[in-house]
Amino acid sequence: MNNYVTTPIYYVNGEAHIGHAYTTFIADTLARYAKLQGKKTYFLTGTDEHGQKIEESAKKNGKSTKEFADEISATFKNLWDGFDIDYDKFIRTTDEDHKIGVQKAFKTMYDKGDIYKGDYEGHYCISCETFFPESQLIDNEFCPDCGRGTTIVKEESYFFKLSSYEDRLLKLYEEQDDFILPRSRKNEVINFVKNGLHDLSVTRTSFTWGVPLPKELNDDKHVMYVWLDALLNYITALGYGSDDESLMKEFWPATKHLVGKDILRFHAIYWPAFLMSLDLPLPKSICAHGWWTRDGEKMSKSKGNVVSPKEVADVYGYENFRYFMLREVPFGQDGDYSQRAFIDRVNSELSNDLGNLLNRIIGMSGKYSEFAISSVDVVKYHTSEYTEMTKVIESLDSFMQNVQTHRYLEELWKALSIANKSIEQYAPWVKMKENKKDEALATVALVANILAKVSIMLNPIMPHTTQKIASALGFEINADSYTRFIDDDDVLSDFVIQKVPPLFPRIEEPLMNEAPIQEHPKEVKKEQKAVEKKVSTVEEDNIITIDQFFETSLKIGTVLEVDEVKKSKKLLRLQVDLGEEQPRQIIAGIKEFYSADDLIDTQVCVVSNLKPAKLMGMLSEGMILAAKDKDGLVLVRPEKRKTSGTKVG
Ligand code: MSP
Repeated sequence: MNNYVTTPIYYVNGEAHIGHAYTTFIADTLARYAKLQGKKTYFLTGTDEHGQKIEESAKKNGKSTKEFADEISATFKNLWDGFDIDYDKFIRTTDEDHKIGVQKAFKTMYDKGDIYKGDYEGHYCISCETFFPESQLIDNEFCPDCGRGTTIVKEESYFFKLSSYEDRLLKLYEEQDDFILPRSRKNEVINFVKNGLHDLSVTRTSFTWGVPLPKELNDDKHVMYVWLDALLNYITALGYGSDDESLMKEFWPATKHLVGKDILRFHAIYWPAFLMSLDLPLPKSICAHGWWTRDGEKMSKSKGNVVSPKEVADVYGYENFRYFMLREVPFGQDGDYSQRAFIDRVNSELSNDLGNLLNRIIGMSGKYSEFAISSVDVVKYHTSEYTEMTKVIESLDSFMQNVQTHRYLEELWKALSIANKSIEQYAPWVKMKENKKDEALATVALVANILAKVSIMLNPIMPHTTQKIASALGFEINADSYTRFIDDDDVLSDFVIQKVPPLFPRIEEPLMNEAPIQEHPKEVKKEQKAVEKKVSTVEEDNIITIDQFFETSLKIGTVLEVDEVKKSKKLLRLQVDLGEEQPRQIIAGIKEFYSADDLIDTQVCVVSNLKPAKLMGMLSEGMILAAKDKDGLVLVRPEKRKTSGTKVG
C-alpha cells in the first residue's frame, strides 16, 4: 500500500521550537522508513496562515498580514531544508490551489445539507480560534483550553452538522483499532464524543484574513473557520478540488497524521466527520505525541527557556539531536529536554556503543588483514549471534508501524550489544596470538555485518551518518540494499573497510548556556516554613473566613498519564489536565495506594494555586487532595465526571 505521512501545518505566528521539530522528525523518519522499504510515499508539511491570531500578530509587528505570513513561513521552510527534511510538498494555506480546494469542499458539504446558516452567540477564544459553551468556561470567563480570557461574540455563522456524526465516529473508534495512536489516548476522544457534540461554527464575520466562501453562496461577509481551512490541507495538497486529482488517487487516505496531543481532538473528531461528509476514505491513524518541556519546566518566551532546534543542532550535531528526541521519549508521553540527558545519550549510546564499534573493527582489520573483511566464516563460527541479531532486526517493523521510535531504537541497540559482547567474548586479539586467524577474522566480519544492518535500520533516523558507516563498509543505503541485507538477510560481500574520522566525538561539557531553573527564592522558603509551623499549631476547629477559604483554588483535574518515580517508594508522577494549555505535572505520594490503571482517565481534586515545588528533582505543579486514616489513603474525587478545570468550592 502507498504511504502518506503528514505533520500538522504550523501557525506562522512565531518561530519553530523543539516541539515543532519533534513532530517533523518523527514524520520524516516514518516517510524515510517507508521509502527505504521501497514503498511509494508522499510526505507533507507546511504552514497554517489564516485566522485572527495571525492577523493580530502581523499588526503587532507592523507588517501586512501576507508579508508577515511569508516571512514566518519561510523560516519554517528554511529550517526544514537546512535539516534536510525529505518532504514532498510544503503547503501554505495561502496558496491559491489550496483555497480553491477548500471552497470546493465547503460547497460539497453545503450542497449535501451538512452546512447550514444560523446565528451564533458564544464565548470566543481568539488564541484557540474556538467558541466554547458557557458550561465549559473556567470561572464563567476563561478558555478551558488555554486559560486566556474569552469574549462574547454574536455573529451570523454557517454551521457544520457535527452532531449528526456522533454515532459514525464512535463506530470508527471501535472498528479501527489503530485510528488513534497511542491507543491509550482513545478514551479521552471517545468520552468527548459521548458527552455530546455541538454543531460546529465553520465561518467567521469578525475578521477578513481567511478563505472566502464559494462564490455560488453569494455571501462575502464570511470567511472560513481556520480549522476547517487547515485540516483540508491534507487533501488539497494532493490536488483535491483541482483539475488533477491523480495524487489523491495515489495517496489518499493518509497512512499517518502526526499531531501533538493538544490538537488530537481536531484530528480525531472534526477531521473524520468532514471527510465522512465529503464521502472520502478516512485516514488510517492519527498519531498524537506528548509535549516537550525543558529541564522539567514548560517552555515559554517570557521564561526565556525555549529551546531553538537550530541552536541545538548547530552545537551538538543535527542527527545526534534527532536521535535524542526519538530515543528519549515513549511516543505519546511528555518529554523533557535537558542537555545532561542529551549529552549522556550521545556519549554512551552513539559514541561508545556505535561509534567505537566501527573504530574497533577498522583497527583490528587493519592489524590482522590489511583492512580486508570477508564474511565467509561468519555463520560457521557465529551462528547463534547472527541468528539472535536477525531476530532483533525482524522485530523492528512493528515498533515503527506503531510509531514507537524509542522502542525501535532500544531494540536496535540490542544488535549493537550482541556485537560489542562478541568482541569481548571471542577476543580476536587472543585468537590471533593462538594462530586462529580465521576465527579472529570471522568475529570482525560478524561485527561488520551487524553494523551494516544496524546502519540500514538506523538510516531513517540518522540519514547522513549511517550513509558514512555504510560507505566505510563498502555499500550504499537505499531500497536495493534494504532488500538485499534486510529482506533477504544477505551478508556483506568481501570488501576493504575504509577509515573514517570519528562519527560521534564525545561531548565533555554542556556547550550551551543553561536556562536558569527557577528554584524557590529564599524568602519564599522562609515564609513557607513559618506558615508550616503556624499551621501545625492551630487547633482543628480553627475558624477561617470564606475569603480565606477561597484563597485556595481547587479544581477538578483529569489524569492523563501516570508513571512511577524510580527510586521512590511513595511517589507517582501524574500529568493532570486542568483545562489549561498544557497538563500539569503533579508529583503525588500515593504509589502505595494507587497504580497507573486506577488513575488514568479518572478525575481528582487539585489545589491549583500552590507555588510549584521540586520533589526528587521534578517539578510538581499542584497537589492532589486525599484522605488518610488507619485503613489507608483514598483520593477525593467528584461524584460525577466534570469538565477538566471546573472550580471546586
Ligand atoms: N496550526 C495548527 C495545526 C493545524 S493541522 C491541520 C497548530 N499549529 S501549532 O504551530 O500551534 O502547533 C503545531 C504542532 O506543534 C502541534 O502538533 C503541537 O502539539 C506542537 N507543539 C507545540 N508546542 C509543543 C511542545 N512544547 N512540545 C511538543 N509539541 C508541541 O496547532
